[in-house]
Amino acid sequence: MRGLLLGIETSCDDTAAAVVQDGHAVLSSVSTNQDRFHEKYGGIVPEIASRQHVALLSAAIEDAVERAQLRLRDLDGIAVTKGPGLIGSLVVGVASAKALALALERPLYGVNHLHGHIFAAFLDADPAPEFPFLTLLVSGGHSQLVSVQGPTEMQVIGRTRDDAAGEAYDKTARLLGLDFPGGPQLDAMAKNGDPKAIAFPRHRSKDGSLDMSFSGLKTSVRYYLQSHETTVNAADVAASFQSAVVDVLMDRVDEAWRRETYTSVVLSGGVAANSALQHALRTWGERNGVRTFIPPPKYCTDNAAMIAAAAFFQGEAVQSEPRTLTADPNLPFELLAA
Ligand code: KG4
Ligand code: ZN
Repeated sequence: MRGLLLGIETSCDDTAAAVVQDGHAVLSSVSTNQDRFHEKYGGIVPEIASRQHVALLSAAIEDAVERAQLRLRDLDGIAVTKGPGLIGSLVVGVASAKALALALERPLYGVNHLHGHIFAAFLDADPAPEFPFLTLLVSGGHSQLVSVQGPTEMQVIGRTRDDAAGEAYDKTARLLGLDFPGGPQLDAMAKNGDPKAIAFPRHRSKDGSLDMSFSGLKTSVRYYLQSHETTVNAADVAASFQSAVVDVLMDRVDEAWRRETYTSVVLSGGVAANSALQHALRTWGERNGVRTFIPPPKYCTDNAAMIAAAAFFQGEAVQSEPRTLTADPNLPFELLAA
């Protein structure tokens, strides 16, 4: 397969396009964040997200190709997120990708968004992770541990039973009066607090599974804030909450590592930008002699370069006929997208 791919990502509220060579070298990566349109509603409004994608995507694609100093004709293929995500958002990207693939007569690849997050670790990485590796994928919509045996051989071995880690961050941040998405602000606030100030509960796995849960923790924070209304030290609450989330995530990583043979541990998803989680994973890696990969934040949060990288490595397994590719908002993790 020739490897100059245009990636398109519109599964949620980021309108993104990128050009990536051979799944590694990012020639351009453009992303227009829509946060300002959703902020006042305290969360993502699907109808607004899809309208914004319609308004922004063509310019994002043109921009990505121009920044890579190429013309559309130079591309070897088009990769697009097929799902999971918001249906109205996904169809905007899928329709554009199909039109481009047909007009340029280039192959089209339909990528599973979650597989994209896993391949983020290959972008501009020297060295890149080697198979098999363990991925902790933590974003606003997902929290899972994935055993990655090869580009198309991946198995979810642990998942959240309720809130995703990013969702828990955003909901707790809201309780603390921070704007959406509150994860990064809570992270910053926690730097001035004492992580040991309040002993919030840590979800324990009783049945030996690698699953996790964050809703009990979020409820504890709510009760704590209600019962300490006048004496609350918000920074201490933020730091103590964050320490509980990181403990749960690292407990599952440690347990998963002991169960199978891997070359390394890869962190991905928006919450991978969290300073406490990064610190905990690095420290754990040093202590246990394990190589860890933490992609830069621009590749951990939703972006189109990771979609192009996944398409490059998964190749024919995700190649699709342009006339038949459809968006699938509920695409299961196990399914290769095409
Ligand atoms: O992967 P992502 O960009 O979007 C998807 O959910 O797919 O992840 C966004 C999530 C949000 O919940 C946001 O609050 C969280 O990642 N996040 C953080 C940090 N940066 C982003 N959470 C904690 N600490 C951070 N520094
Ligand atoms: Zn994502």
